[in-house]
Amino acid sequence: MLREEVLRGKGNLIFKLSEQLLLELADSYGTPYFLMDEATIRRKAEELRDAYSIYIGKVSIAYSVKANFTPRVLKVYGEEGMLFDTATVEELYFVERAVGRASESVYTSVTQTYEEFRRALDHGVRLFVVGSMRGLWNLERAADRAGRKVDVLIRINPEVGYRPNSKRFYLNGKFGVPVRDPSGESGEKLVESASRSSSLRIRGFHFHVGTQVTEPEMFVNAIDRIEELVRSRSWLDVGIVDIGGGMPVSYDYGIPSARDISRSVVERLNELARRLGRAPDLIVESGRFLVAEAGVLASRVLNIKNYSGKLYAYLDTGYHNLLDAVLVRQVYPVRVVPAGGGSTNKRRVVLAGMLCDMDDVFPLGRMSIISGLDIGKLVVFGNVGAYSTVFNMPFHSQPKPPILFRNGDGNVEVARPRESLDALYREEGGY
Ligand SMILES: Cc1ncc(COP(=O)(O)O)c(C=O)c1O
Repeated sequence: MLREEVLRGKGNLIFKLSEQLLLELADSYGTPYFLMDEATIRRKAEELRDAYSIYIGKVSIAYSVKANFTPRVLKVYGEEGMLFDTATVEELYFVERAVGRASESVYTSVTQTYEEFRRALDHGVRLFVVGSMRGLWNLERAADRAGRKVDVLIRINPEVGYRPNSKRFYLNGKFGVPVRDPSGESGEKLVESASRSSSLRIRGFHFHVGTQVTEPEMFVNAIDRIEELVRSRSWLDVGIVDIGGGMPVSYDYGIPSARDISRSVVERLNELARRLGRAPDLIVESGRFLVAEAGVLASRVLNIKNYSGKLYAYLDTGYHNLLDAVLVRQVYPVRVVPAGGGSTNKRRVVLAGMLCDMDDVFPLGRMSIISGLDIGKLVVFGNVGAYSTVFNMPFHSQPKPPILFRNGDGNVEVARPRESLDALYREEGGY
């Protein structure tokens, strides 16, 4: 089931970009810089749509704005006709400004306060996900105030979580409620409460299985939970099933393709549809899968040191630009530009970031090609389109790097200019 060609990174943007382009951009815009690629964004959107096209009901893809909220990127998902999976009122603002339709969001907040629901309703949001009793009451109050009947999905906790890069399962109670819990909040209790409300309409269920999920069983288990809840409640009209997150990206290990994963998920959904006597609309929420492969980060080697048989290469970037490298020890594929001058044994190379922190080193994985590493060359990181630009930090007074955008015609635009040092100084209260 694991795809070797995926592991080798064939077709991955980082290995497809020409050296000439990467070097020219470094000359024009300086390093480090991010580059996002429109063609890859659209290709991944098509791949995900194709993976779920075998479902018997209607399918919508929702782009998870948290993964990358660069307005130029949001515009592409808008053009692709996607919904938006939003978690904060500020994300709604971004979607509204960039795409002009924050109303087409599935609003899944963690905190679920009255105030944010009120503001989300002002943005015209029609579909809300709620995973706590207080959240439900807050939404009801906000709906009453707006004088509107509001559609709600109950967030079910699948009770089996999954950590990326490991096979360890665990329970994470932060999101949603279990189906049943006599002593605590539960899906059953939320359903009962929502069904008594004159301002809320239960439209269905949502779950989020985690991130980098390579086991389709995780999704299947979560759908089992939903069925458990609806089985004895034939009066419930399940119009929507919203499956969150998880579709994996190949960073440094083989992964199943989107089709490999969706096959059993859709089989299970089709079975649910048959038992319900109707096919609920399916919403597939994805962030990482849709956007990760569309981004690279180019940095420059500033210094090299031989130490105890190892070659330390110091870069002009660090985890302030790629936080997942330290948060989850993400192994990004890496390439040296221009290549040449002989391959270097990866085990003898340490790619060191510029931060005064011991953890600021980038592990080198199987997909990386370290050839001719030298001062002045570029070290380019692949698959950084998700959860990297959104975490940029000004550690060591470092302004945010620019985000360049290669559009469908192959022309490069500036999507986010390099932040000036003066702007950062002012942002920090300097005058
Ligand atoms: C509710 C929800 N849906 C979707 C996602 C996106 O997950 P991924 O980026 O793994 O696709 C997340 C990520 O945190 C999430 O919390």
